[in-house]
Amino acid sequence: MRIYASFRKTMASSFAVCRLHMRGRASLAKCLQKTDAFLHRSIGTDVVIARAEATRSDESDEKNGRKSLHTLHMERQEQAERSVLISCQSSTNEKKFLKYLSKHGEINKYFFYESYGVYAVVEFANQESVTSLLEGVAIPGGSHESAVPFKSRLLSLRNLGSVDSSNQLSGRQCQPQTTIPINELIKRLSREESIDKQISSLTEAYQLTEENSRLRFLVCSLLKDIATAYFPECTIKPFGSSVNGFGKLGCDLDMLLDLDSITGRNVKLPKSGLSLEYQMKRANSERAVTQSILSVIGECVDQFGPGCVGVQKILNARCPLVRFAHQPSGFQCDLTANNRVAMKSTELLYLYGELDPRVRSLVFTVRCWARAHGVTSSIPGAWITNFSLTVMVLFFLQKRTPPIIPTLDHLRDLAGPGDKTVIEGNDCTFVSDFNKIQLQSNTETLEQLLGEFFEFYATFPFSRMSINIRKGKEQNKPEVAPLHIQNPFETSLNVSKNVNASQLDRFVALCQESAWLLQQSETSTPRGGGAGGEGAPTPWGLATLLLPSQVAGIKSRKKRRREPASERIKGLLESLKNKNQLKKS
Ligand code: CTP
Ligand code: MG
Repeated sequence: MRIYASFRKTMASSFAVCRLHMRGRASLAKCLQKTDAFLHRSIGTDVVIARAEATRSDESDEKNGRKSLHTLHMERQEQAERSVLISCQSSTNEKKFLKYLSKHGEINKYFFYESYGVYAVVEFANQESVTSLLEGVAIPGGSHESAVPFKSRLLSLRNLGSVDSSNQLSGRQCQPQTTIPINELIKRLSREESIDKQISSLTEAYQLTEENSRLRFLVCSLLKDIATAYFPECTIKPFGSSVNGFGKLGCDLDMLLDLDSITGRNVKLPKSGLSLEYQMKRANSERAVTQSILSVIGECVDQFGPGCVGVQKILNARCPLVRFAHQPSGFQCDLTANNRVAMKSTELLYLYGELDPRVRSLVFTVRCWARAHGVTSSIPGAWITNFSLTVMVLFFLQKRTPPIIPTLDHLRDLAGPGDKTVIEGNDCTFVSDFNKIQLQSNTETLEQLLGEFFEFYATFPFSRMSINIRKGKEQNKPEVAPLHIQNPFETSLNVSKNVNASQLDRFVALCQESAWLLQQSETSTPRGGGAGGEGAPTPWGLATLLLPSQVAGIKSRKKRRREPASERIKGLLESLKNKNQLKKS
């Protein structure tokens, strides 16, 4: 696990877009009309212009109404099918590269990024262009090793002739695509004028970019090409933070092998008359079927999947999976099958994130804060996971007066007949039409919400109560676990079953200290050296909360008996005051 975590970290940190030419989400017809002009005009256009265009089209999307996750999936999957991933050489001449590719048809979009070398994602306007391109692709030769003859849309660009230094894919054009290092983030935040702006700036810096999201769908599409050898109608869909709106650059790629169109869950048999059915092998349980499918696909990924390394089949987990690293993209991948409840919870989180911009911002901030203090980790263990943390933020937002987001039960009550979903006996129904959801007018600022979040969990009765976003109310704990967060759909399960008492204590203590720090005028107001000022800005506000050094001896503090919350806070405040006085003297 440690090897994979460090591998993932290394790959993530080397991942950088060097140049992109995104034209946003204009309609396909428009794209086709403009591609000619675009190819002539935009070779060499810089990232800023591309960003501005993407933002404009996002704005027009908002005016036309928010997209459902389903629509987003369909659009992105379709784009991915028309795309190829090409390993380039850093001396590649960009103009020549595009000219060569556009012989096969119009190119809608393309961008370059770095991950153990330079790669290009190229999206053609038509699928036929990909077929035409692949017809002319050569089988690698000239090595003492033999190639596994599995053809995919992951290609390598070979010598295109003489090097033209005027238009190379040189390093200086690279646009970093990983999250910026925490110390740089802290500097950036310290220059902001308000905590609200700091929170927005953090969200902006950490969220997945348009091109990163495209790359995630392309990796799914490349894997689908392997799985379709056995299951021609299958799809592979991303779920979790890659698509739920809370993904941070560098987060893992959770994938679902969707066999629903084959297993016939949606096919109704005629009531009378003749009909045919397939003869199929049977296994003892759905779990056994999932395990055998993942075992075979995992083997194929391992033996034939270009760029897939370190394949591990973890088939005895509660949710069996195949884990591997996809080297060309830098993604750590988890492939699961028959995990439809997770897809529903992804949809739910996406919907909550779309309802109010404060939801996403607060989740990003809390996730970043938790990571900075080691409350969460990329290594599995007894710590709180990002998913649990997200549910905790959602619960807190349901508990505001008036609530910022509705309860899951309310979303279920608003559901139409088409929304009805029952998975393995679990009611996963909730409304999909955003327009049916009426929000209450809560005007709290992000700064207020962040402070209140820390206070809320600094004093939450974790020992007795469970967090429940279905009801939007804490419930008596049904089992003895330090932290109990009810799974929204599989309601008998605890999302945070893995969390031990000391990890929860750390979280609570950090909440107490962060709440206190935000109340200090010294912390909560800019401290000079801001925009336009000289030298490194002095950390303040959210930047202070991300500094582990501000965590007053949490690690060295001995385990205490759980006193009543108010007593704990008083004690904590005293110790912090004393510490500050010592520093000043
Ligand atoms: N999930 C779930 N129940 C759990 C854990 C996970 O339903 N106990 C689902 C959630 O939809 C979650 C997804 O599986 O979003 C992926 O899990 P994970 O990768 O652990 O969380 P992410 O939300 O993807 O966050 P991260 O960025 O840390 O990967
Ligand atoms: Mg994930």
